[in-house]
Amino acid sequence: MVKMIRRALISDIPDVVEIEDNSFRVPWPDFLFKSHLSNPGFLVYDDGKVLGYIIVGSSEDKRKAHLQSIAVQKNYRRQGIASKLMDWCIDLLRLYGFERIVLEVREKNIPARYFYLSKGFSIDGITEGYYYDDNAILMGKDL
Ligand SMILES: CC(C)(COP(=O)(O)OP(=O)(O)OC[C@H]1O[C@@H](n2cnc3c(N)ncnc32)[C@H](O)[C@@H]1OP(=O)(O)O)[C@@H](O)C(=O)NCCC(=O)NCCS
Repeated sequence: MVKMIRRALISDIPDVVEIEDNSFRVPWPDFLFKSHLSNPGFLVYDDGKVLGYIIVGSSEDKRKAHLQSIAVQKNYRRQGIASKLMDWCIDLLRLYGFERIVLEVREKNIPARYFYLSKGFSIDGITEGYYYDDNAILMGKDL
């Protein structure tokens, strides 16, 4: 089976929702993922089964892309899947002419913070109480 990164399809939604449910305490429902199917920044990592996904979109500032979500199936983490998804996404964003990618991450989400640092993101600031139970660390990276 060929491993590949490609745009998400409607048939991927059950796998994406399974990853989501295993990754977040407040997971996105399937209709939210479905609403992103027309977004070229909704990509999946396909290894026969979808093992990870990433969603980026544009922000109010059209030069800035916003990372909306990224997750990898629990038993497949630390194998470089999120890294490949992020690299692919960044190449795509450069092609579309974006100059920067920004994101918010929960202060308590240490694995994700380490992941973003490993991908060259740096901390832009902190928003206290951004989540109902946590602060948000704002991070960004020039493209
Ligand atoms: C964050 C997440 C997407 C990373 O996915 P992944 O496929 O495991 O990441 P990679 O294997 O590409 O990791 C690349 C690098 O990031 C860093 N990293 C990733 N997970 C880490 C962890 N748990 N602890 C410390 N560093 C970590 C490491 O530097 C790693 O390189 P290495 O394995 O060679 O040391 C994954 O942990 C996940 O799905 N978490 C739940 C969902 C989530 O929190 N998403 C982010 C919301 S803001």
